[in-house]
Amino acid sequence: MDLLKESILRLKQEKDAIILAHNYQTADVQDIADFTGDSLELARKAATLDNEIIVFCGVDFMAETAAVLSPEKTVLLPAPDANCPMADMITAGELRVLKERFPEAAVVCYVNTSAEVKAESDVCCTSANAVQVVRSLKEEDILFVPDRNLGRYVARFTDKRILPWEGFCFVHDRITPADVLQARRDHPGAEVLVHPECRPEVIDLADHVFSTSGMIRHVCSTDSREFIIGTEVGILHRMKRDCPGKLCYPLSSGAVCVTMKKTDLSKVHRSLETLKPRVTVPDDIAEGARLAIRRMLDIR
Ligand code: 13P
Ligand code: SF4
Repeated sequence: MDLLKESILRLKQEKDAIILAHNYQTADVQDIADFTGDSLELARKAATLDNEIIVFCGVDFMAETAAVLSPEKTVLLPAPDANCPMADMITAGELRVLKERFPEAAVVCYVNTSAEVKAESDVCCTSANAVQVVRSLKEEDILFVPDRNLGRYVARFTDKRILPWEGFCFVHDRITPADVLQARRDHPGAEVLVHPECRPEVIDLADHVFSTSGMIRHVCSTDSREFIIGTEVGILHRMKRDCPGKLCYPLSSGAVCVTMKKTDLSKVHRSLETLKPRVTVPDDIAEGARLAIRRMLDIR
């Protein structure tokens, strides 16, 4: 093992730290992590850890969620500029104006939002549980922020009136139906799996729609051998590692989330050494955000 990795492992032990990584992280980072998962798994994990220090290899809203759930812990985000452009597409002020226009509606926010937006929401959701979360609500009108594609996907499974915000993930939204048709020609017989952040016309052409970890579970457990994967390409590393014997091809090799790639081993090392950059959320905001996240985590 190289010196940097050895040093990370030593520091981790000395400082009672745990490294959490999202499925889109680079192969190096995934391999050094104690736990790799989708947004829901990472939020659940962050809520139950005993470690004093959490090193979050992902983007800012994920580390914020961990800090909201465990305010007494030190949550580190090794790449402080790793933001989610979609999360930045709605502010708490914009959501307040929307709530005034639709006072009877429940507000469901995707976990890809700031803590301020979560604090203005009734309940949070992830790509793994969005349908379940919306179904659990008594309100008929749902303000769904910020991802219009996930909102429209959820609308397929409920009679409720979903009012989606016009945000989108640039990585998934630029995948086109032509990409799906080309990939099917290149790999006839392969199953097409896409993420619900994809456009409706792409979802219409897919065999299955899953969160990132949902895709991994499906690839590992089904009898099919070949898969076209319609999400960020970092996930292919986990599929290769966890699902031996399966062949997974990217639906679009351009599906790269640049901010997810800002974390590298040297930044993880520096973070463990200095215990910086630390992510904290002011108490008044954390309190509201915690209610929305906890309400989601309580839905099983
Ligand atoms: P999941 O891993 O929860 O499916 O989310 C994908 C994503 O884009 C996170 O930013
Ligand atoms: Fe945000 Fe999309 Fe990147 Fe996920 S893949 S962090 S939704 S920009």
